[in-house]
Amino acid sequence: MTPSLKKIIQSYDPGTTLAEASTIPAPWYTDERVYDLEMQTVFARSWQMVCRVDQVSKPGQYVTTEIAGEPIVVVRGNDDLLRAFFNVCRHHAAAVMTEPEGTANQLRCPYHGWTYSLAGELKGTPDFTGVCDFDRSANSLLPVAIDVWEQWVFVRVEGNDTLESFLGADLIDQTGSLGFASLHWMERRHYAFDCNWKVFVDNYLDGGYHVPHLHKGLDSVLDYRNYMIENGERFCLQWSPMVSEGAEEQTGAVRQGDRALYYWIYPNFMINWYQGAMDTNLVVARGVDKTEVIFDFYFPDISAAARERNRLSIEVGQRIQDEDVSICKSVQRGLSSRAYNAGRLSVRREAGEHLFHRLLYGDLNASLGTT
Ligand code: FES
Ligand SMILES: [Fe+2]
Repeated sequence: MTPSLKKIIQSYDPGTTLAEASTIPAPWYTDERVYDLEMQTVFARSWQMVCRVDQVSKPGQYVTTEIAGEPIVVVRGNDDLLRAFFNVCRHHAAAVMTEPEGTANQLRCPYHGWTYSLAGELKGTPDFTGVCDFDRSANSLLPVAIDVWEQWVFVRVEGNDTLESFLGADLIDQTGSLGFASLHWMERRHYAFDCNWKVFVDNYLDGGYHVPHLHKGLDSVLDYRNYMIENGERFCLQWSPMVSEGAEEQTGAVRQGDRALYYWIYPNFMINWYQGAMDTNLVVARGVDKTEVIFDFYFPDISAAARERNRLSIEVGQRIQDEDVSICKSVQRGLSSRAYNAGRLSVRREAGEHLFHRLLYGDLNASLGTT
């Protein structure tokens, strides 16, 4: 008999200490019902990074995306305000904007040609005379909450909290001195993982546990024994002093400075900061066992002179991802095995995962209500 969704969610005990804790149970990674519930709760109710500010810096620039299954368009208006809308035409529900990004002077639906202003107001409705009680002003695109933090635009499909309170003062303070604003975006890469999105996040949050085993190059520049894990309310900072002695050549050339900082922000956004290089990871759930991770690479100097060094830095990042692809697939397969339900956590290393699992439990369990 298939256990109920409630039973699956409540089989995790969020009340245990790290030393007593187990991971969330395997069905959380394999059951479509858990995946659907995450879409409606974890993803619909959290602030989600949708694009960089530089992608929508001029009036008419727009980006489309999907969050929690909802088509979304972000667009800067002629009044210079940034807005987000459900990218769903009020006529018969087609997506109004169909390109991933671009510039437009109005938002025109490709289906029957309805047009909306950059502020979302319905302007043009071809062949619509004679329609009774049709109030054009009541047929604007529906707005979605939007805000900006540092270089990134976030939207939230449902809920009331501000981006500031979602991120929390602690995270905003800590990162304020890192100089994100002085870094320039250079390149985006997409990575496909054959695993549930949480497998990727767990792998990220294991406090460097897998680094000496899977990432020899990265391991050679990190001081593994002094790798630190600090949980915030809804984020985890993992950081490591860096060493230059004995560094593997390729990695050592582009991973320098005295420390590496790895910020994870619940549920699916990461900022990896080194002196002279930063990348962000957006983990996009594409199905219960399919995940896309979008990497954006940033550098202080993206001029032609710095291009080669930056490219080498990106290649080092690429190698680390390639090393993670097969282990994530292997974990996903094991999670479906009858031999596995949950595992224990390392007190030294896996506090971040413990936080992640408890936050997930909070969101999923709250949404079960009394049913
Ligand atoms: S669905 Fe958009 S104009 Fe008809
Ligand atoms: Fe890894």
